[in-house]
Amino acid sequence: MAKAFAERGASIMLADINAEALATARATLASSGADVETVTCDVADVAAVQRAADATRTRFGKVHLVVNNAGVSLTGKAGKIAIENWRWAVDINLMGVVHGVEVFVPILRAQGEGGHLINTASMAGHAAQPGAAPYIATKFAVVGYSEALRAELSGDDIVVSVLCPAFVKTNILESEFLRPSITMTLDDAKKTERFRRMQGIIGAGLDADLVGQWVAECVEQDRLYIFTHPEYLQAIKDRFEAIMADYDAVIEDGRFA
Ligand SMILES: NC(=O)c1ccc[n+]([C@@H]2O[C@H](COP(=O)([O-])OP(=O)(O)OC[C@H]3O[C@@H](n4cnc5c(N)ncnc54)[C@H](O)[C@@H]3O)[C@@H](O)[C@H]2O)c1
Repeated sequence: MAKAFAERGASIMLADINAEALATARATLASSGADVETVTCDVADVAAVQRAADATRTRFGKVHLVVNNAGVSLTGKAGKIAIENWRWAVDINLMGVVHGVEVFVPILRAQGEGGHLINTASMAGHAAQPGAAPYIATKFAVVGYSEALRAELSGDDIVVSVLCPAFVKTNILESEFLRPSITMTLDDAKKTERFRRMQGIIGAGLDADLVGQWVAECVEQDRLYIFTHPEYLQAIKDRFEAIMADYDAVIEDGRFA
């Protein structure tokens, strides 16, 4: 996304908890002529997000586009997930987005020039699968949150989009091993059949640069939902059919009419 927006002339502030990854990303963007700065930031910490906002305004003066993209994977079965891991995922995947919104919306409002928020959810925010309930719950939350914000912020000329990809070729699989309570190290996990299978699935996912370009185009078109995987249409239809079937049940019953 940073590459795509830089190509369109935006100055870029990259914020991430991983200083090493930031340095690499900065060098890549700068080599293509982008005006880029970095700031280390844990999105789970609202004070750190505020510091990132301050650093952005000190360096660039104004902000027009905010991308709440940091996220981590957390899989596991109900009854077997450490509560501290649940909290960790919620603090990053949901509260990280909340912190970005609460810190940057007042800035966008005060500038009075409108703006755009992009919140990264997932296809997992529209279609639930077993075995990854914490991740799915946070991503459904980001979709609902973004829908609410879209209506609420339109009066401030702030447009809200929610990015909902299925598999994209990134390091997301490794993120799960940053959780506070681990039963297996990343090195050991890499030897397991499950990890290798997931690596194959993620590795066959979309190229992140293509997703970034599509996001920029969808932002130019003020889209709310940014979908990237046409093959998941049936999953969306199945969910809505299930909702309609149960809704029909209460209508047909008639007792609450
Ligand atoms: N890769 C996929 O298949 C996929 C699919 C759907 C949605 N997503 C979502 O895309 C977003 C980006 O993930 P990705 O796939 O690029 O994975 P990634 O692990 O390659 O990138 C995530 C980035 O977030 C950073 N991060 C993690 N915790 C942080 C924190 N507390 N504060 C600040 N930065 C933090 C990591 O250092 C990393 O640079 C996430 O929200 C993820 O849930 C990914």
